[in-house]
Amino acid sequence: MPAINRDRLQSLMQSEQKKFIDERPKSKALFERARKSLLGGVPMNWMAKWAGAFPPFVRDASGAEFFDVDEHRYIDFCLGDTGAMTGHSPPATVSAVQEQVARGITLMLPSEDAVWVGEELQKRFQVPYWQFALSATDANRFSIRLARQITGRGKILVFNWCYHGSVDETFITLEDGVSKPRRGNVGPPVDPSVTTKVVEFNDIDALEKALQPGDVACVLAEPAMTNVGIVHPEPGYHRQLRELTRRHGTLLIIDETHTICAGPGGYTRVENLDPDFLIFGKPIGGGVPGATYGFTQDVAHAIAARQNLEDCDVGGIGGTLAGNALSLAAMRATLEKVLTQEAFDRMIPLAERWTAGVERAIKEFDVPWHVSRLGCRAEYLFSRTHPRNGTEAHDAMDFELERFMHLHAMNRGILLTPFHNMALMSPVTKQEDIDQHTRVFCEALRALTA
Ligand SMILES: Cc1ncc(COP(=O)(O)O)c(C=O)c1O
Repeated sequence: MPAINRDRLQSLMQSEQKKFIDERPKSKALFERARKSLLGGVPMNWMAKWAGAFPPFVRDASGAEFFDVDEHRYIDFCLGDTGAMTGHSPPATVSAVQEQVARGITLMLPSEDAVWVGEELQKRFQVPYWQFALSATDANRFSIRLARQITGRGKILVFNWCYHGSVDETFITLEDGVSKPRRGNVGPPVDPSVTTKVVEFNDIDALEKALQPGDVACVLAEPAMTNVGIVHPEPGYHRQLRELTRRHGTLLIIDETHTICAGPGGYTRVENLDPDFLIFGKPIGGGVPGATYGFTQDVAHAIAARQNLEDCDVGGIGGTLAGNALSLAAMRATLEKVLTQEAFDRMIPLAERWTAGVERAIKEFDVPWHVSRLGCRAEYLFSRTHPRNGTEAHDAMDFELERFMHLHAMNRGILLTPFHNMALMSPVTKQEDIDQHTRVFCEALRALTA
């Protein structure tokens, strides 16, 4: 088929924008009010990026749906960008939180729940030692610091177009073989090439060359990239990544914050990976802030050998509210009763159904797009072939087209994850929600290709 007609796209976008504004007078009024006290009218800058003229303001959410203040119902495939992968307010987490909130929220002392969660994480990931943070960003930052301390090396290595939270060292890209600060990087403390090496995912030769000088403390990697579309590792890639990191004395941090969608033990257990550190944030507490980082026995020994009790509260690791009683109660209930094997046994076939529906539509309307899936997460991207690395995935993005797909879906009661075209299935997502997405997706393609 010919490339999407840009004039048609712009005129469709205008009519979708009008529909969005006309049908949401209460959200519009709240947004106008918010602009007088919140920068850009939103409490967090990312929320300004939704495809509508303003974000829909939420009245309430439960399970896999929410209502906005104008009474529109949305099927939620964004699920708080994975923070609510459990479905909104899962009953088991809610009752544990209600119980704990009346018994103390944060004490800077451990609770029994912390021990239960540590033991459960051990079983799930086969990683022996655990610590807690309030966000996956922090869990990554703390692991990087520990890796630097243990190895005595300054640099880290990441993959081009990765995302691991607001970790300074990771905002670097590779352009024609040259590493540069990533576009949009706000106030970097130093040029990221001082702290970081960046190579393409699935490029073993580049990885070996970068590790060879022996100055890289750790590789920080999602086991499959999920923040620039989905980029799967090629067969044997993880084995080689592990061999090379070991050979060059570099520690391996596997960030499972999104790839937990592969199963209860993340991609690590599905593919039997063997990381030195493992990160898991976002949905671990069913939406209550919390994250964890685990590490091996060797790493635990190395940390203990360098630990300085007198300075441990000012060394750059930890935080006043980290490991608080409320997050731990939420994590315990979520791990025990919500993000279970049975839940994944429901969620993954739902994602297969979503993917099959999108794939059929791509074929029917003959658009040069493809759809990928990883466990209960799926995503379509505007290229015919599956990308091998971050650059190929990034080149397939199309901001204007993406905004149209999101706004068209929102106007028809469907929320996708903004910034790309990602859908996540919760344990309470319904088959009819998926089929409704397929119908709306077909409608968008019909309008684009008419
Ligand atoms: C793989 C990965 N790691 C870490 C993070 C950071 O999570 P948070 O924003 O909760 O700190 C993200 C956020 O999208 C992520 O996708």
